[in-house]
Amino acid sequence: MTAGPSVDLPLDPFLLEHLDDPYPVYERLRAAGPVVHLPERDLWVAARYESVSAVLRNYKVFASGLGSSYVRVADSGFRAPFIDNDPPVHTRIRRSVQQQFQRNRIEEMRPDVREPTERLVEAAVAAGEVDVVTALTQPLPDLAIRRLTGITPPDTETITSWADSVMHMVGPDADPVHMERVLEAVGWLAETGLAGMPAHCLGRLIMEQGGDTGQLGDERLMTLASIWLAGIDSTNSLLANAVHAFALFPEAWDAVRADPSLIPNAVEEVLRWDSPFRQFFRRTTEEVEVGGVTIPADADVCAVLPAANRDSARFADADTFDVTRPDARQHVAFGASIHLCIGAPVARLEAAEFLTSLASRVRAFELVGTPVRNPNREIRNFTSLPIRMVTA
Ligand code: HEM
Repeated sequence: MTAGPSVDLPLDPFLLEHLDDPYPVYERLRAAGPVVHLPERDLWVAARYESVSAVLRNYKVFASGLGSSYVRVADSGFRAPFIDNDPPVHTRIRRSVQQQFQRNRIEEMRPDVREPTERLVEAAVAAGEVDVVTALTQPLPDLAIRRLTGITPPDTETITSWADSVMHMVGPDADPVHMERVLEAVGWLAETGLAGMPAHCLGRLIMEQGGDTGQLGDERLMTLASIWLAGIDSTNSLLANAVHAFALFPEAWDAVRADPSLIPNAVEEVLRWDSPFRQFFRRTTEEVEVGGVTIPADADVCAVLPAANRDSARFADADTFDVTRPDARQHVAFGASIHLCIGAPVARLEAAEFLTSLASRVRAFELVGTPVRNPNREIRNFTSLPIRMVTA
């Protein structure tokens, strides 16, 4: 670990200069205290594992109902049914689909995820050099979410761009074009997407029966849209971050190839070491203390998930990528408590199938150009990741 924070260095993780490599500023934020106040944004930032966990678990005081993103619901005019609600509304919406995301239900998707994964990986390996993002990590989540929801979008490029706008639209300095794109996506779903759904699917369960409990009312379309759009960019990030990590650390890939039973843990380690979401927000319902720091009522609080996952107070040698790490699964990349990612079993299944398919074919990943990160302040993914798939 390097020295503690310098007062001259800005601790603002939202500055564009931190986007490509936010880990140095995360380290300084952790060192600066359990929670750090950024006066220029009037924002309270939790970067330590213990603080992030405290914020996420105390959902009554750290509420999501005023908004779980940088921009409050009142300012954006946009409320996502799951993440921007508190109990009892959140409980009602979550229970309406919870059963559909049980591990054994998601397991039924495996053959339908495996087949296109094998096909696309095979083609990428045959090509030798590919941009992993366009060849694999964008199309695979699109295909999995089609299978999960029953919605067939116009094409991968369109759904990827819609999903990217969801992540942009409630971030700092959001360009209004992103809100327009999200409204376009929801409009397309209502006017075209629903009609194309097969007889039995999650989409019809939500739209026609109000979910398993029948308790979804006016929010049916937005509930379906949330699941549909939340599963695209997030998993794209996980898959690409995995290839990137294994290109940087070939010995970790050797270990996975030698013992594919490491793959589930390797997926957790990728999520820990390079977490897809940069942060989520909460708003305090009353004055509250975290690690001895008093946060006032009605404050904006930012939980920096990737910073928590690199906290050496929680994970030994936290900056080291170690696929055998025994407690990798304790990461908070999927959040925690009542808003814990409902789609986590889907993402885990996709990532395990992806790495399994690659492990049987690819000896090493070589970067053949400069990876380009997406300048998105909510999610950390790539717009380009040129890779040579070495087989011999
Ligand atoms: C690697 C992939 C993914 C990551 C890292 C991820 C991360 C997260 C995180 C951190 C949260 C909590 C937000 C908060 O606390 O405010 C969340 C919630 C959620 N995720 Fe995911 N997610 C992923 C994939 C998916 C997939 C594949 C789906 C759908 C199929 C999905 C659907 C949702 C939904 C609906 C919620 C809201 C849950 C609630 O508020 O009760 N996610 N996700």
